[in-house]
Formats: sequence, C-alpha cells, structure tokens
Amino acid sequence: MYGKEIAKVLITKEEIDKKIVDVAKEIGRDYNGKDVLFVCVLRGAFAFFADLVRAVSKETTVNARVDFIAVSSYGAGTSSSGEVKFIKDLTTPIADKNVIIVEDIVDTGVTLSYLKGIFQARKPADLKICSMLDKPSRRTADLKADYKLFDVPNEFVVGCGLDYDEDYRALPDVCVLAPWVYEK
Ligand code: PRP
Repeated sequence: MYGKEIAKVLITKEEIDKKIVDVAKEIGRDYNGKDVLFVCVLRGAFAFFADLVRAVSKETTVNARVDFIAVSSYGAGTSSSGEVKFIKDLTTPIADKNVIIVEDIVDTGVTLSYLKGIFQARKPADLKICSMLDKPSRRTADLKADYKLFDVPNEFVVGCGLDYDEDYRALPDVCVLAPWVYEK
C-alpha cells in the first residue's frame, strides 16, 4: 500500500478509531453536558482533531466547539528546534471556558509547555491536553497529557497528520519512516 520510504505501519487507522471512541467517552465523563472548546494545533493535529470532535459529539453529551491555532517548532528537520513559533492565534476568547488542546504528538513537550503557559494566562475555567501520541522517552519539559491514545517508541513517525518535510500527513495510519529518507 505505501512506498518504500515507509519502514512499517506502527498503528492502524482502525486501532486509532477504536481508541478515539474510548478517549471521547472519557472526555464525556469528565465534562458531562458541558461546553468544551477543542483547540486544534495546526498542522499536525488536523486529522486526529476532526475524528476526535466528531466522536465526542456522537458518543457523549458534551457540546464540542472548535478553534484553531498554528505553531511550529520543527521546520524541515527531524527534531525540535526548541523554539516555538506562534503563527496563528485563537479567534475566540477562552476566559471561563473549558478548553482542551488537541495535539498529534507530545515529543520533548516544549510546544505544549509553551502553549499551556500562554493559555493559562487567559484564565480558562479548565485547561487540559489531549494527544494522539506520546513519546515519553524524548521528554525534556515537565509535561503530561491529560488524555492520550498511544505511547510510541523513539522512532520517526509520520502519517495521521504527522509529517516529514510536509510529506506523509495524509496517510491514514501512523507509520515509521525509513531512516534513509531523512539521513540522505
Ligand atoms: C510537532 C507536533 C507538535 C510538536 C511536538 O509540530 O505537531 O506540535 O511538534 O513536539 P515537542 O513536544 O518536541 O514540542 P511541528 O512543529 O512539527 O509542526 P506541525 O504540527 O505543523 O507538523
């Protein structure tokens, strides 16, 4: 199905969909009947985000609202530069709202630590983090996702929103990229 740049499929779309329902129900238990603003961190989170908010609406009594921000820390490389660039801010104020920041991956944790700081200063009623993937072995910042789907090993993963140099975001599965692709 995929080209030779993909070393292996790590997590299938079916496995992701199943876990999304579990996490949606968990969110539903925590915010039963309430409004929640889901914030998509572009661009990597777009695919997971769209599936998550629809699952929340289907499976729970939460009134899911959406907004979008864009940040970047990776550029064209395979590891975080450690510097987060804020490219696009929210369009809605978050004071007194329940907010869940939705990410594709927590790697070093630098991006989400930075975002958490900015968001907390705006005084939301509640602020949580939901990430599709977690790479705990790479963490440098003191950051823990409140909701997460899968831990992944320290390999370069692409697909389901995650890119290498802007390729592979549209792959439905989470895959390991062959090292020769980024070592050349
Ligand atoms: C990726 C990912 C997270 C961040 C995680 O974004 O989407 O936002 O890196 O890494 P960290 O925990 O080490 O900070 P990237 O900067 O590649 O932008 P993108 O979402 O447009 O792919």
